[in-house]
Amino acid sequence: MTTPTVTIEALKDAHHRTWASGDYAHIATLVTGVGESVAARAGITPGQDVLDVAAGTGNAAIPAALAGGQVIASDLTPELFAAGRARAADAGVAIDWIAADAEDLPFEDARFDRVLSAIGVQFAPRHEVVAAELVRVCRPGGRIVLGNWSATGYIGRFWSTMGPYMPTPPAFASPPPGWGRPEHVEALFADHPVSLFFEHGAVSFTAASAEAFLDMFTDNYGPLLQARAKLSEAGRWDDLRAELIGLSEELNVATDGTWRVDSDYVVIVADKD
Ligand SMILES: C[S@@+](CC[C@H](N)C(=O)[O-])C[C@H]1O[C@@H](n2cnc3c(N)ncnc32)[C@H](O)[C@@H]1O
Repeated sequence: MTTPTVTIEALKDAHHRTWASGDYAHIATLVTGVGESVAARAGITPGQDVLDVAAGTGNAAIPAALAGGQVIASDLTPELFAAGRARAADAGVAIDWIAADAEDLPFEDARFDRVLSAIGVQFAPRHEVVAAELVRVCRPGGRIVLGNWSATGYIGRFWSTMGPYMPTPPAFASPPPGWGRPEHVEALFADHPVSLFFEHGAVSFTAASAEAFLDMFTDNYGPLLQARAKLSEAGRWDDLRAELIGLSEELNVATDGTWRVDSDYVVIVADKD
């Protein structure tokens, strides 16, 4: 049997539908720390032009606007913008929201002083295309800051655990944890005029138990929601759920009988020559 060919357009369409499913706006409230770190590390000064790529509901865009940036928030999934607009209004900031693929940004070369992404661009399939686009739209002397789940941290390992249960990705697509490995990121930017710096942060997830967290995550996080739908039909969901609960229990650091995992992320600072 031959594997059906998946076109890049079909893959993007599937990604769009996945991120529009569930309630990412709720999940975003659990990971605000990544966007705040990314915006802080960008060193934004008032009036600078800032692009948040794969912005979702604005976890990096909103603190960037609070720092005085003129911010555009772009994402493949414009269904998330209503929640983003409401959050921006609550924060008292104005942001432009533009539907855009990170692999084909609709902006001229060198348009932005700062280019940001919080646990965003790591989900676009062609890592080298994304890296080239980020560098292209950043002005010389500008700064790109990315917060990516570490490959060895909780969410990085979560994605790696899901991998074998999911359809084999097309040859042109790379899995998300790659962007959380410094050596992979160094290779992506090797031919671009940037100096790279790596730092680390962590997001703490808490719940009554590993099962409670996993079930909440599955009900709200599009990629997991879609995985449950597909794997339930094939009778394999219980196996993946058990593996993910096992991972979640292995990394539990709570000492009071509840559950807490600190999920590591890498902050990549790329200063453009
Ligand atoms: C985990 S969410 C992160 C959203 C937000 N930055 C945050 O910190 O909450 C991943 C985001 O990447 C977006 N995304 C996935 N593939 C994309 C692509 N090819 N181009 C632009 N955005 C993409 C999704 O729509 C989703 O909003």
